[in-house]
Amino acid sequence: MAKITTLDEFIIQRQKDFPYATGELSGLLRDIGLASKIISREVNKAGLADISGAANSNQNASGEEVQKLDVLADNLLISCLQNSGECCGIASEENHTFVPIHGSPNAKYVVLFDPLDGSSNIDAGISIGTIFAIYRRVSDDGVCTLEDFLQDGVEQIAAGYVLYGSSTMLVYTAGNGVNGFTLDPSIGEFCLSHADMQIPKQSDIYSVNQGAYRKFNAATQAYIDDCMDRSYTFRYVGSMVADVHRTLIKGGIFMYPATTKAPKGKLRLLYECNPLAMIVEQAGGKATDGKQRILELEATELHQRTPIYMGSSDMVTQLEEVVYQMSPAKELV
Ligand code: AHG
Ligand code: MN
Ligand code: MN
Repeated sequence: MAKITTLDEFIIQRQKDFPYATGELSGLLRDIGLASKIISREVNKAGLADISGAANSNQNASGEEVQKLDVLADNLLISCLQNSGECCGIASEENHTFVPIHGSPNAKYVVLFDPLDGSSNIDAGISIGTIFAIYRRVSDDGVCTLEDFLQDGVEQIAAGYVLYGSSTMLVYTAGNGVNGFTLDPSIGEFCLSHADMQIPKQSDIYSVNQGAYRKFNAATQAYIDDCMDRSYTFRYVGSMVADVHRTLIKGGIFMYPATTKAPKGKLRLLYECNPLAMIVEQAGGKATDGKQRILELEATELHQRTPIYMGSSDMVTQLEEVVYQMSPAKELV
């Protein structure tokens, strides 16, 4: 039987990633891993909630309140992140402002997350995910502050996602490459299944909500036209985690551009774009807003949005070139 390496064993083996805090990082990832195992269980039976719950009420057969899965996932992550005592606060899509973790006010880390990404796809049985980013706090001991969360993407010490799909996978980076772990439900462990993930430099897949084509800027339209002229394959799930995971495995470019209706795009910088940009870069890819590296964008608000183009380095470089060539204020070199 092939050797099984669990997530815990892997982190401890990789002391060089985190020499000063192996125990702390494994504690945080263990908390996230535990929450995602429970979320996976709840997601897998989501369709049954209506059967077990009374018709048109938010209560199930045993009279428990049936929470929206987003809120349930959010609450699970918050309560699990209290276990290791390594997290002093969280910020997430489901909370207007940050949430201090009172049990560990002097902990060194904060965690930002999208508890359930692509949740509009649950009813259709399509893959969804959880996205997380881990930072060291910048404030002194005591209750965390907003500044702990408004850090640029380059300051992330670890980032990753969980994909609730045909299998449940946890993919993370601590700044030394990307590794994927598949949940083996029979032993309840995430086991190393995708070591040192590398994204192909070039591919023939492009991923964007083609239905919004007419609302994109001219450069984005020109790039998409070129993909179509080259008869590239078009793939779009509508769950960022699923689209980015496919891009990581098969290569390609994932785009959520600005539109006339949403001039800053739809996706959130702090808990969707930055963590996935760190993963893609660590796997040898690129992530940009068309002009700037995503990880260098200034964080000014918890829920700020940004356009994003990410994936195979050659394809993203080509997109940036089209944007540059078509930008009105092209700086003369
Ligand atoms: P969330 O469910 O966390 O709000 O995220 C949904 C996002 C992202 O997962 C996906 O890429 C995007 O919404 C799809 O948006 P469109 O339906 O506008 O294409
Ligand atoms: Mn999301
Ligand atoms: Mn979400």
